[in-house]
Amino acid sequence: MNNKQQIINLEGITFRYPGARENVIDNLDLKFFSGSRIGLIAPNGSGKTTLFHIIMGLLKPDAGRIEIFGQPVSREKDFEKVRRRIGLLFQDADDQLFSPTVLEDVAFGPLNLGKSKEEAIDISRKTLAFLGLSDFEERITFKLSGGEKRLVSLATVLSMEPEVLLLDEPTTGLDNHTREKLIEALNSLDLAYIVISHEYDFVNAVAPEIYKMENGQIFHDEELQIHIHEHVHRYGREPHKHG
Ligand SMILES: Nc1ncnc2c1ncn2[C@@H]1O[C@H](COP(=O)(O)OP(=O)(O)OP(=O)(O)O)[C@@H](O)[C@H]1O
Ligand SMILES: [Mg+2]
Repeated sequence: MNNKQQIINLEGITFRYPGARENVIDNLDLKFFSGSRIGLIAPNGSGKTTLFHIIMGLLKPDAGRIEIFGQPVSREKDFEKVRRRIGLLFQDADDQLFSPTVLEDVAFGPLNLGKSKEEAIDISRKTLAFLGLSDFEERITFKLSGGEKRLVSLATVLSMEPEVLLLDEPTTGLDNHTREKLIEALNSLDLAYIVISHEYDFVNAVAPEIYKMENGQIFHDEELQIHIHEHVHRYGREPHKHG
């Protein structure tokens, strides 16, 4: 029995930035199901961020078909609904944070979704506590360190209670301890996600399936999966069991 719901279905997506010579995304297909956790590893400039922005409707593909939660989406109105259910952690925290204090920033999303002020503050406090950021509520957002901004950005996404996360390089600027905290947080969430990262061990710790991007398309990457195994497990390519 397969009761997995199709969350994202991309067919033949093609995208070229205005004035560019080549397509960044070129006839790309992707199916993403509820309960899935995918890691996406590819070199700089492969189009990973572009792909996330297309899924969120921030960029319009030149060709192809997008279905989210089983519904075709193409108009801005359709994507407004998508953005209520899929949370994007931007690659650059400065694209995410804009309120004077951390609590205001984290409460902005729920307020925008129609929650009362009390509810929004309550959700925000819980989210900050979940990420170990309770002491940050009154901090001035623009004065946070890079790693702190990263985690607060994640809080602004989680406070909107999304069903799916798109995480664009969530570990940028995080020290080892904070990265471990993030791994724990992601593993304890009951959410499907796609995570872009260059850190193999991080991807291995949070995503059982690894994909790569090449020539504007996305592929399941078994070789990379084995490669990651070699890094993470002492056993390398020798047969071994996972608990
Ligand atoms: N606004 C833009 N206008 C023109 N070209 C762009 C624009 N944004 C990105 N590009 C180009 O599109 C390509 C893909 O960019 P994208 O940001 O999606 O890559 P990425 O895989 O996320 O890279 P990174 O790992 O460095 O974050 C790059 O060659 C980039 O220079
Ligand atoms: Mg990127």
